[in-house]
Amino acid sequence: MHLLLDSGAVDEIREASSWGVIRGATTNPTLLRQAGVEKISDLVASWAAAWGTLHVEVFAAGREGMVEQALRWTSLGKPLAIKVPCTPSGLAVCRELAQRQIPVNVTLVFSLSQALLAAEAGASYVSPFVGRMEDHGMKGVQLVADIRNGYDRTGVSTQILAASLRNPRHVEEVALAGAHWATMPMAVLQKLFHHPLTDDGLQRFSDDAAHLQD
Ligand code: G3P
Repeated sequence: MHLLLDSGAVDEIREASSWGVIRGATTNPTLLRQAGVEKISDLVASWAAAWGTLHVEVFAAGREGMVEQALRWTSLGKPLAIKVPCTPSGLAVCRELAQRQIPVNVTLVFSLSQALLAAEAGASYVSPFVGRMEDHGMKGVQLVADIRNGYDRTGVSTQILAASLRNPRHVEEVALAGAHWATMPMAVLQKLFHHPLTDDGLQRFSDDAAHLQD
């Protein structure tokens, strides 16, 4: 399972990328607003291909507007995936962009039925929102497992990108449930590194290294 940073903050993305553990970032209008991004084209233009793929969400009201936004951003020549909502017009946009070989991430997915529709529309990625499901008493990790099972049984190649992950347990559970990708905020990514026995071992090695020469 590959990891992505869920963030609209370029500084965060650059830092996480320097650790060598992420393959890009996912954004949404809320994250971009929090990060103070006003113009998505500016973010796309500043994107370094070495950071991996930037998943950026269209927000225009109608089908034509969403396609126009997507084509304008992809024309900047950066590695992008276009996020579209799992609605009739969003999936029509998905189909149109997929026919143009533009990778599409169908977002805000909360059921296997939606995931099957996204696959049929040609999505490269489908994003079940695990944490938000759990907020409402639904089983988010189980949905990831169900989508993986449904896709594998029917020969679907759309990749499952588990989103709305709130803690390291979510990340581990979606890996075991068969997600191909997991996106998470910086705070969760940082927590993945930590284990008290690693800290303890490092301290002991550091004490003993003080008696060594290289
Ligand atoms: O990638 C989707 C994610 O941004 C949603 O996370 O925490 O707002 O449910 P959250």
